[in-house]
Amino acid sequence: MSSGPLHEQLDEIAAAIANIESANAPQLDELKHGLLGRKAGALTRVLRALPDLPPEERRDLGTRANLLKRDVEAAIETRLRQLESATRRGDDIDRSMPARRRWRGAIHPVTQVVDEICDIFRELGFTRRVGPEAETEDYNFTKLNIPLDHPAVDMHDTFYLSPGVVLRTHTSPVQARTMEQYEPPIRIVVPGLVYRRDPFDPSHAPVFDQIEGLVVDEGVSFVDFKAAIDFFARRFFSPDTAVRFRPSFFPFTEPSAEVDAQCQNCRGSGCSTCKQTGWMEIMGAGMVHPAVFEACGLDPERYTGYAFGMGPARIAMVRYGIPDIRTFFENDMRFLDQFVE
Ligand code: DAH
Repeated sequence: MSSGPLHEQLDEIAAAIANIESANAPQLDELKHGLLGRKAGALTRVLRALPDLPPEERRDLGTRANLLKRDVEAAIETRLRQLESATRRGDDIDRSMPARRRWRGAIHPVTQVVDEICDIFRELGFTRRVGPEAETEDYNFTKLNIPLDHPAVDMHDTFYLSPGVVLRTHTSPVQARTMEQYEPPIRIVVPGLVYRRDPFDPSHAPVFDQIEGLVVDEGVSFVDFKAAIDFFARRFFSPDTAVRFRPSFFPFTEPSAEVDAQCQNCRGSGCSTCKQTGWMEIMGAGMVHPAVFEACGLDPERYTGYAFGMGPARIAMVRYGIPDIRTFFENDMRFLDQFVE
């Protein structure tokens, strides 16, 4: 075998050292394999060929090949260390590349308020429950002491899905479902969506959130209700927030009340948010009507209870000073981004 081609091969290998010095990590791997690989490495093959050469050439080529091997190994080692420290320093990051915005998902502001309200009531022993949005007239109206010819049925302006089946107009039907299913004591809060044929304007939407509350036990009184709502308002708004109870009417409660909290905007002195009254309505409420207990199979002689229904979107508007309820439905990221935690 002539040593001429082997010398040429060693020339090529020597030239490859320049490539090693500028290689990136995968290239370096490839070069290392191509030169020193145990089977097919170019340098390995030259070294393997040496024993077959005449002694003179063997010495000559052997010396050159071995020196080259040392140089190649040293070059690979040096480049490897350079690449490693570049990675540690972050030199291989292209800092001129435009940053990509990372979008973070977040809880909708109304849902945040719903969760917060339910958490406050949980401290008072209330369990969170849900019920169906497609509801029968029976649960939505009749069992709640609202006969179908009652004017309140018109007031609720109902979406009918089929005869006798409606999109619930309030979360109150879950009161009836719970009383039928569980023995008192009952303490629940029921968040959920409700539907009404309402115009879509700054203070109305055809779909909105409600939170129902219900407490039933022996000996529950209006005083218990006042204490619970007082606790809630101080906790949710601020420790010095006052509440007041105004007489009202709901078919499913007797007596009935509407509850106001001190306006969070003017702290009670009167402003445009509270129409100069100093108060904001936060819920409808009352003592569960005996007819509702009877319709749900509970003995009104034995049990009493209170119930309430509030609109978390309205409450979120009061709290964050949002003038138009439609903002909650527009999914404008510039608005929603403000509520990312
Ligand atoms: N269901 C009523 C509504 O949608 C709100 C309400 C009032 C719920 C009084 C109650 C209650 O539980 O006791 O307007």
